[in-house]
Amino acid sequence: MKSFMTQGAKILSTGSAVPDYSLSNNQISEIVQTSDEWIVTRTGIKERRLLTGVNQSIVDLAVLASIKALDKISMNPSEIDLIILATSTPNDLFGSASQVQSKIGAINAVAFDLTAACSGFVLGIVTASQFLQNGSYRNILVIGADTLSKWIDWSDRSTCILFGDAAGATIIQACSKENNSILNFQLNTDGHYANYLSILYDHKNAFNPFLNLYQGAFRYLSMNGKEVYKFAVSQVPLSILKCINSLNISIHDIDWLLLHQANERILTAVAEKLSINTSKIISNLSKYGNTSAASIPLALDEALQTKKISNNDIIVVSGFGAGLTWGTVIIKWNEF
Ligand code: UT7
Repeated sequence: MKSFMTQGAKILSTGSAVPDYSLSNNQISEIVQTSDEWIVTRTGIKERRLLTGVNQSIVDLAVLASIKALDKISMNPSEIDLIILATSTPNDLFGSASQVQSKIGAINAVAFDLTAACSGFVLGIVTASQFLQNGSYRNILVIGADTLSKWIDWSDRSTCILFGDAAGATIIQACSKENNSILNFQLNTDGHYANYLSILYDHKNAFNPFLNLYQGAFRYLSMNGKEVYKFAVSQVPLSILKCINSLNISIHDIDWLLLHQANERILTAVAEKLSINTSKIISNLSKYGNTSAASIPLALDEALQTKKISNNDIIVVSGFGAGLTWGTVIIKWNEF
């Protein structure tokens, strides 16, 4: 990575939103053949929130999380220059970020979606920091939001136990180079294994015989859980090591490990591979399951609310998932 930094970037505020409706493991065991014991032992998940309202979408969650982040610092939405909505479940294939822009009244903001599944938030933060560190923009709203419950096959016990819906938002602001808190990043993609985790376009569903073409429809989420597990546990530690080595810091300097909340066993395995004490793992997936692009900002917001994270703490943040995509961003926490 080459840096052309003319100024710094720091996270100024966070906010998050989850639907009211909670689905427990025991409730899922009434739909498919599973048990609370199996789900907790294999994943660490106890319950997840689902967006159930007919007229509710990803946009409602993203708007709520964004307003909370704005309100925390009494920022007028018109001060936002750019909105990046990391999501793989938009309510409009052309993108949902512009709906968020309009609903929160960010009248001066450019807005676009970023599709990178569970790595979306990490990619969003890195993208935002480029615009800030090169002096293009001053305030950027990065949202990670997903409603995978809408794309799950609720008769497939290997996937329906895992996912929940949520949104998390961060406001990142330009600052002096000395106060820069987005210290480094390391990103990867390997499309050879795209079939391990996908929500595929299904051309068989909608053939138009008059025009001899196929029209849009998507299948349910499908995942090779075992392979994704092996990929995460082997590749995420390497990404983190590359990132900290090129920053010339050591494993001992890490205060918090904030990984995509996919599976408690993955969080522990990554920490153990890196010899990071498991007490440094930030985890809230027992309450929310895997919320895809929302999982990292949701856990970050919660860790800040509970005052886990202190000024100057070094947080290693890693996302991984479909694509396959994975990457790390290292944040030095500057209190806002
Ligand atoms: O967000 C993107 C990133 N995604 C991930 O990181 C997910 C990574 N993968 C995982 O977290 C794990 O692979 C899972 C939690 C999805 C599955 O755990 P596992 O320990 O890899 O289980 P498995 O797929 O190897 O299945 C073991 C057994 C199988 O039965 P047999 O073949 O041994 O008789 C499955 O049929 O468990 C069975 N099984 C279940 N049993 C009860 C699979 N799902 C369930 C279930 N309840 N829900």
